[in-house]
Amino acid sequence: MVTIDEHGLQVLARAAVEAIESLRRPAGPRSDLSPIALHQLIATLEICPDDGVGLPDVLRDLGSLVWAHSVVPSDPACVAHLHPPVLVPAVVTELAIAASNQSMDSWDQSPAATEVELRLMAWLASLLGMPETGSGIMTSGGTASNVLAITLARSWAAAKLGVDVLKSGLPPEASSWRIICSDQAHFSVQRASAQLGLGRDAVVAVATDSSGSMDVAALDETLSRLLRDGGVPIAIVATAGTTDLGVIDPLGEIAVRASRHDAWFHVDAAVAGAFMLSDRLRPSLAGIELADSVTIDFHKLWWQPFNASALVVRDVDRFDLLRVRSNYLDRGDELEGMVNLVGRSLDTSRRFDAAKVVATLQTLGRHALGEMLEYLVDLAHYAGMVVEAHPQLELVAPTASITCVFDAPGASVDDLRNVQQRLLAKGEMVLGRTEIKGRAALKFTFMNPLSTKDDVKRLVGMVVDELNAIC
Ligand SMILES: Cc1ncc(COP(=O)(O)O)c(C=O)c1O
Repeated sequence: MVTIDEHGLQVLARAAVEAIESLRRPAGPRSDLSPIALHQLIATLEICPDDGVGLPDVLRDLGSLVWAHSVVPSDPACVAHLHPPVLVPAVVTELAIAASNQSMDSWDQSPAATEVELRLMAWLASLLGMPETGSGIMTSGGTASNVLAITLARSWAAAKLGVDVLKSGLPPEASSWRIICSDQAHFSVQRASAQLGLGRDAVVAVATDSSGSMDVAALDETLSRLLRDGGVPIAIVATAGTTDLGVIDPLGEIAVRASRHDAWFHVDAAVAGAFMLSDRLRPSLAGIELADSVTIDFHKLWWQPFNASALVVRDVDRFDLLRVRSNYLDRGDELEGMVNLVGRSLDTSRRFDAAKVVATLQTLGRHALGEMLEYLVDLAHYAGMVVEAHPQLELVAPTASITCVFDAPGASVDDLRNVQQRLLAKGEMVLGRTEIKGRAALKFTFMNPLSTKDDVKRLVGMVVDELNAIC
C-alpha cells in the first residue's frame, strides 16, 4: 500500500527508479517480433501466481516481455498516428496522481483537485476566447469528449421543446434530428449519434474541398435540402484538425450557419486545439470562440500520457442537462462552494488528470509549447516538399498541419499496404496508412519536436526503398 509518510514515499521512490530502469530497450520504433511470436511470448507472462514473486522480478519481466516489444512514440520513425511522445513533468506527475489517488466525482474525495480541474477548465475556456461562463470537464479522450458534446446538444434540442430527455427519453420529433459534420469528421460523431439513439443515419456528411476542409457552399446546400425534407439540424460539428489531413474547417463561417439554424455548434479540436498556444498558429482557429462546445485532447499535441482530454462548454449551466443526482455522491445539499464534478461527467470515479496538464503548462510555459507546435507544422511542411520533389511520390493534399499524406502513383493499393506492413513487421517504421476519398495513401504524423529534417529525409528514403523492393 502506498502510504503518504516518510517510509512509504521512500519505498515508492526506490520502486519508481526500478520501474524506469525496466523501460531500457534497444533503439527503434518497435521490435521485429512477429504477431505470433509476440502472442507466444506474452503467453509466458504469469498473471496471478499463488504467491507473489517480488516487485524487482515483476518489473524485470515487464521490461523484457512487454516494454521491449512495445511501440516507442518518441522514436522519429513512429509516425503512424496521433500518438505522442510524452513530457517529463506530465509523467512524473502521473506518479503523484496515482499515489495520491484523488477521485474527481465528488468534492469530499478530491477537494483541492476539484478546484484545480475547475481552474484548468476556466483557463482553457478563456484561451479559446469563450466568455466567463465557459468551463469544462476532463474526459478520457476525444471520443468521450465528442460523445459528451453531442449528448449535450441532444438534451439541449429536447429542452427547447420542453422535454427532459434524461427523464422521458427521446421525443417523437427526434426522428427528424440531424447532426451535420464534414466527410472528414472523426468517426466518434457517428458513434455518438448511434449511442444516443438517433442512429448513424442521423449524421449528415458535408462534402469537403480538395484540401479536405468543409465546403461552406456544400454546407448551405445540405442545410437547405435538409429543411426542405423536414429535417432539423440540432448540431453542426466542425473539425479543427482532421485526423488524416490535419485540416481546419472554416469555423467562423460554420458558426454563422449554426447560429442561423439555432443548432449547437461543436468544434472537435482534438488535434489542432493546442494551436491556441501559438501566436502564429492561433489565427487558423478563428471562430472557435463562437462554439457551444470544444473538444481538446491533451494526449495529442499537448504531449500528455493517456488519458487526458477535455470538453469545454461556453455556458457551464448547460451541464445541468446531464445531471443525475445520487444520494451518496451528489445530493445537492452540500456546503456552499463544494462542487461535485460527477454532475458534469458521463463517468463517476475519475482520475485527477488535470494535475499533469497543469504541471506541464507551468513547467514549459506557453511560448515553449507554441514553438514546439510551430516546429512540427514546419516539419510536416518540409516533409510535403520532400515528397513532392520525389519522382515516385505524390501528395494527396497539401500539408495543413502536422501530417503529410501521400501515395505513389505507380503503386497499387496492395503495394502501399505491403510497404506499411513490411516496415512495421521489420520494426523499422510505424507508418500510417489511410484512405482519402477512396484514394489509398500513406501518412506521416509528426508528433515529436525532437525529430529533424534529416529524419524526414530518412523516412521518405525508407518508404521509397521498400516500394522499390516490392514493385
Ligand atoms: C479529430 C479527432 N477527433 C477525435 C479523436 C478521438 O480521440 P481519442 O482517440 O482521444 O478518443 C481523434 C483521434 O485521432 C481525432 O483525430
